[in-house]
Amino acid sequence: MSLSSAIRAPETLLTERLRLRRPTAADAEAIFARYSADPEVTRYMSWPTHRRLDDTRAYLAWCDNDWARWPAGSYLIFTREPAGLLLGGTGLTFRTPQEAATGYVLARDAWGQGYATECLQAMIALARKTGVRRLEAVCHLEHHASAHVMEKCGMRRQGVLREHTEFPNLMQGVRQDVVRYALEFWS
Ligand SMILES: CC(C)(COP(=O)(O)OP(=O)(O)OC[C@H]1O[C@@H](n2cnc3c(N)ncnc32)[C@H](O)[C@@H]1OP(=O)(O)O)[C@@H](O)C(=O)NCCC(=O)NCCS
Repeated sequence: MSLSSAIRAPETLLTERLRLRRPTAADAEAIFARYSADPEVTRYMSWPTHRRLDDTRAYLAWCDNDWARWPAGSYLIFTREPAGLLLGGTGLTFRTPQEAATGYVLARDAWGQGYATECLQAMIALARKTGVRRLEAVCHLEHHASAHVMEKCGMRRQGVLREHTEFPNLMQGVRQDVVRYALEFWS
């Protein structure tokens, strides 16, 4: 399938409890205040904890480019009730029109309520809808909560990739082991 025949994702998605929408430049302050600058939240992320608002603005510029290039991109996660509390981020990162990666990050006060599971289910449905054939996600080998979310959503453990990803908030300049999960869609 060529990129021109891929189905473009809606910029807003609703799940049972959440509203997911494409980020805009105006979201920088809220993202910075809620999660991107929190060392506890970003511990297992592959990007450095944001130190300045400009770090978050640079991320939002990247999001815009990604959305311009591919059928979908990053989403911010908000509560539906009460409306509009920012909880975190998720999304699809395309490598080709048929292959995408996903992930999720939630503000600390949003952990343990099933939100990551709800978001991943939405991203799996979206990947299928936009014509993705293979959806992947990786997590640090010791990040058991994240691995559990992927397993709950039916992603299959592919194995451990040794010395694969740098986690700059754990240790700079060293690639660490990750577990890779994937789902393939053929219908
Ligand atoms: C990891 C994270 C996304 C989980 O989000 P969440 O909304 O709390 O996840 P959910 O509530 O949907 O599910 C978490 C599951 O993991 C389980 N869990 C929590 N801690 C665990 C641990 N240490 N070991 C194994 N399972 C664990 C929970 O019990 C729950 O499973 P259950 O529903 O069967 O009880 C969230 O903590 C987060 O955003 N962390 C910071 C960013 C991050 O690390 N993102 C992932 C990068 S790969």
